[in-house]
Amino acid sequence: MNETRPNLVRLRDFVRRVTDLADDHGGNEAAMLDGVEGYLRQLIGHDDWLPAFCAEPHPEHYQQYLLHCDPQERFSVVSFVWGPDQATPVHDHTVWGLIGMLRGGEVEQRFRSVDGALEQGETVALWPGDVGRVSPRIGDVHKVSNAHDDRVSVSIHVYGGNIGRIRRRVYSLEAATPQDFVSGYASSMIPNIWGGD
Ligand SMILES: [Fe+2]
Repeated sequence: MNETRPNLVRLRDFVRRVTDLADDHGGNEAAMLDGVEGYLRQLIGHDDWLPAFCAEPHPEHYQQYLLHCDPQERFSVVSFVWGPDQATPVHDHTVWGLIGMLRGGEVEQRFRSVDGALEQGETVALWPGDVGRVSPRIGDVHKVSNAHDDRVSVSIHVYGGNIGRIRRRVYSLEAATPQDFVSGYASSMIPNIWGGD
C-alpha cells in the first residue's frame, strides 16, 4: 500500500456513485442497501486509497473517522479502526448501514429484542472483501469486536444519515434501560478527495 499518496480517486468515485443513488433512491432503503453494497464491494476490493490518518488506532478504544458526509446528510462514509482486542458496546444505529471489511477482521454478535429484552442472536465474522448490513428493519442491535488480538483491523462503513450526529442507544445486558449516545467522529480532518488526478 502506498501511504504517501493514497489513491483517493477510488473514494471520490464511490462518493459520486452513492450521491447519484441517493438522488434517485434516497428514500428507498432496500434500493440504497443493494446499490451501495455493490459500490462498497468495489471500493474495498483495493487497499490503496485510505489515507494513513484515517487508519490510526487508539491505544484504548476503537476509532471512527469521517471520510465523507453528504451535504444533505442522506449518507456518511467512515473508517472504523480497531486496535488489538478492541470492541464496541452493544449498540443500535437507527438508520441503514453497510460494513465493508478492508483489513484484518471483525466479529459481529447480533442481538434481537424479545418481549423488550435483548437476546443473543447469531455471530458473524467479516473478513477482507466481506460486507455486512444493519438497519432497524433487518436487525439493528449488535456488538462488534476486532477478530484479532495482535493486529489492527479496519472496516469502511456507509450509513443512511450523518452517523456521528445521530442520537442512538447503547445497551448494557445488566441495565434495564439503554443509554442515549451520539458518537461524533475521532478527527476534525477529512480526506481531500477533490484535488490531484
Ligand atoms: Fe454498529
